[in-house]
Amino acid sequence: MSEFPQVLQGVIRDHDEFRAAFRALVAAGMNAGERDSEAVAQAAVSLEKRLDEINRLVEKHVRKEEQGVFPVLRIPLSAGAETGNTIFEVLEAEHRHLEKALASLTSMCDAIGSGGNTSSGHVDLVVTKLRIVEAEFLAHFVKEEQGVYSRAGEVLTEDDRRKIERALDSM
Ligand SMILES: [Fe+2]
Ligand SMILES: [Fe+2]
Repeated sequence: MSEFPQVLQGVIRDHDEFRAAFRALVAAGMNAGERDSEAVAQAAVSLEKRLDEINRLVEKHVRKEEQGVFPVLRIPLSAGAETGNTIFEVLEAEHRHLEKALASLTSMCDAIGSGGNTSSGHVDLVVTKLRIVEAEFLAHFVKEEQGVYSRAGEVLTEDDRRKIERALDSM
């Protein structure tokens, strides 16, 4: 049996899908640098499309967490912690940071795709940034899974589980 409660399985599945999506994105970025300038521009356009798609899914995932899951888990898991200074504030700040990092990657790809600098050095920069953002996402997921979701099973009441389920169903 999974260490995560049933009601959180969808959120955990999202993490696994993002892990796979970033792996594929980094691989695609690495291939892009080895082509001529027109092909590089095309590859940048295709990377940008994939980033847009990931961005939409990230926004939805963050909504599920911040509006569906965190409000319920915050009460039992923040007990005794200083208000406003809990793991939930850390995770929410990381959400804002990750959203900005994705937007900046998208605009880098947009600049290349719309005929800007298509040198391999510039593409390398995108791949480097992509790897950093991927690592930040992976660290964020581990923090959520180990710091919050793996502890949820012990603290969630039946009523809490219903509350989360209702919130997630309505999104
Ligand atoms: Fe998150
Ligand atoms: Fe998450």
